[in-house]
Amino acid sequence: MSSVKFSAKAWNTTATRLAVLIVIVVQPIGPGAGWTQEPVQPRINEEFAKQEKIYRRRGADVPGSYVTNRGLSRYAEVLPTGFCDALGSLGSSDRWLDIGAGEGQAILDYYSPQDDAAPAEECGGSGPKARAVAISIEDRRTDKWKQQAARLGDDRIQYLSGKRLRHYSREELGKFQIITDVYGGFTYSENLSRFLEKVLSLLEIGGAFYTVVPSVHLEDGTDKLGTWYLTEVVDAASRPVTVCSWLKQTTCTKVTCESKTDWDAPTQLIKIRKVCSDVSVPTLKIVEYMAGAPPGRRFQMAP
Ligand SMILES: C[S@@+](CC[C@H](N)C(=O)[O-])C[C@H]1O[C@@H](n2cnc3c(N)ncnc32)[C@H](O)[C@@H]1O
Repeated sequence: MSSVKFSAKAWNTTATRLAVLIVIVVQPIGPGAGWTQEPVQPRINEEFAKQEKIYRRRGADVPGSYVTNRGLSRYAEVLPTGFCDALGSLGSSDRWLDIGAGEGQAILDYYSPQDDAAPAEECGGSGPKARAVAISIEDRRTDKWKQQAARLGDDRIQYLSGKRLRHYSREELGKFQIITDVYGGFTYSENLSRFLEKVLSLLEIGGAFYTVVPSVHLEDGTDKLGTWYLTEVVDAASRPVTVCSWLKQTTCTKVTCESKTDWDAPTQLIKIRKVCSDVSVPTLKIVEYMAGAPPGRRFQMAP
């Protein structure tokens, strides 16, 4: 991966991904690569610049795999068991943050009036609704969002865009009982440990972060041979580790991982409950990054 360059469009073809896999297999980062401060991949900044362009694409230019309008029922399918019940148990003064919200359709569905032509959303229940905040790098608000926000008033739903999660202060965002990320920052970030640190700093103790990672080594080892991986983690000696085993080294959290072997790509559904305040996330550095929707990423744990 480090020695080949692909356009974002090309990365989204199976052939290109297979080519990338072959290069990874033929040219692994050997045990001698060790921990260095800088990313191993030359010109990694060019990939970051390409990724920026993907976020800015509009209309027909948006890659087919860059889906920005998943509704709440899709969230219910791809997030860990218990997400809908947890959402349904929130009170009207509680808060839900959706990181990487795209058009914010999941929040719109959560707030959809019960007398709508569409059947009432089952996920999140029909009780009181929490305040909800959507974050997206690029502004993908639809007219529907604007109308609903105006109708609800009083900041019940908020849409923040123009910067990444890490650029918001804790004071700006406040704290949340539930944080979700469906193919958003957790799938796209080039600095996963810093991203997670920020997420956990925004969670109330007892609150939970629900997310999903596609094309990844599964915790229970059920991913099939011949799989291509988009997100890989290696330890300081460059031995593969699973995302879940890395996550489980985070202090003050309880991490639960569900493996989806029979989906198009091996996918890990992840729930992280914050159980105390002294959170420390083991540092990862990016060693390879290939722009795409989603991008290919290889991280290395610090010694
Ligand atoms: C593929 S879309 C997913 C949208 C939505 N969750 C859905 O499933 O329809 C990716 C979203 O993640 C956002 N994103 C990626 N990295 C982010 C970051 N570090 N901070 C905030 N948003 C991020 C993008 O701006 C975009 O809104």
